[in-house]
Amino acid sequence: MYIKWYELATKAMGYEVIGKPAIKEFKDIIITGMGGSGIVGDVIYSLLYTRSRTPITVVKDFRMPGWVSKDSLVCVISYSGNTLETLSAALDAMNAGAEVCVVASGGKLLEFAISKGLTYVKVDQGLAPRAAFPLLLIATLKALEFYGINVHGNLGRSLNVLKYTSEVDSVAKELAFFIFNSLPVILSSCRLYPIAMRFKNELNENSKIMAKVEVIPEWGHNDIVGWELPLDVIRAVVVYDGDPLMEFVARFLRDLKVPTYVFNLEGDDLLSKILYGVYVAGLASIYLAELRKVDPVVTRSIDRYKEFLNSRISINA
Ligand code: F6R
Repeated sequence: MYIKWYELATKAMGYEVIGKPAIKEFKDIIITGMGGSGIVGDVIYSLLYTRSRTPITVVKDFRMPGWVSKDSLVCVISYSGNTLETLSAALDAMNAGAEVCVVASGGKLLEFAISKGLTYVKVDQGLAPRAAFPLLLIATLKALEFYGINVHGNLGRSLNVLKYTSEVDSVAKELAFFIFNSLPVILSSCRLYPIAMRFKNELNENSKIMAKVEVIPEWGHNDIVGWELPLDVIRAVVVYDGDPLMEFVARFLRDLKVPTYVFNLEGDDLLSKILYGVYVAGLASIYLAELRKVDPVVTRSIDRYKEFLNSRISINA
C-alpha cells in the first residue's frame, strides 16, 4: 500500500469538495479525528503554526472544547467514518452551531454529512486508515481551501517525495534494522512533531512494538535528565532537517553512548519534509514487522478497544 502512495496522492488531487462554503471569517479552526485520521490534524497544525492568524487546535477526544462556537470551523476526519470519539466530537460541534466539514470514505460520518447537508470530501475506500494518509491529508487540505484557508502553495510539487525509490527503501531498511529489538525514542523539533508521532504510531500498529516521542525544546527541560543513566533497550532516532539544536541532541546522546540514528529528511519545504518523514517511517515499520515476523495489517487490540466502546456508547445523529 505504501509503495502506491504517489499514485494514490495524484488521484486524490482530483477529489471534489461537495457543499456550499460559509462566506465568513472564522474565529478559530479545529481539526478532529483519531489515530491514522487524527495525524492529519497534527500535520496541518504544524504547517499553519507560524502562518495562521486564526487559532488552530487539534482535538482527539469525544468532546469539543468549551469555546467552540458558531464562529468555529470544525474539520472532522475519520477514514472509516465510524470512530465513536470522532462521531461524538462532530455532534458536539454541530450542537454548538459550528461550521462542520467532513472527510471520510463512508460510514456513519459520511451519512451524517450528506443527511445534514454538510460540506464533505469522500476519499477512496478499501485501505487501512493509516495507509490512506495521503488521501486524508489532501482531502482535508482541499476542504480547508474551499473555506479560503490556503495551507500550502505547491502541494503537487511536495508530493514528489512520495515516489518509491531505492534510496527511500534503503533508509527505511536501515531504520528497521536499527530499531529491531529496542525501545525506540523518536526525538524531533516542534514543527516536525507529526513525523515523530506518526513514526511511533506506525511502529505500534504495523510492527507491534512500543515507542516513545520526545519534542525539543521541551525535552531539554526534563527528559534530557532521564538519559543520564539510559536502559540498554533504548535507542534514539533523531529527526533531522539541518536544525543545529537537533545536532546538539544527537551529540548529547552519543556522548552518553546511546545508540543514535540521525534520520535525515529530504524535501525543501515543511510539507515535503513531513511527507518524506511519514513515508519512510511507514516503510520502516513494515520492514520491522517482517523482521519481527508479525502481520503489519491486523490491529486486534484496536478492534478490541473499539468493540468495548461500541458496547457502551451509541451515537444517534
Ligand atoms: C488503523 C489506524 C487507526 C485508525 C483509528 C481511527 O489503520 O491507523 O489508528 O485510524 O482507529 O479510525 P478512523 O481513521 O477510521 O477514524
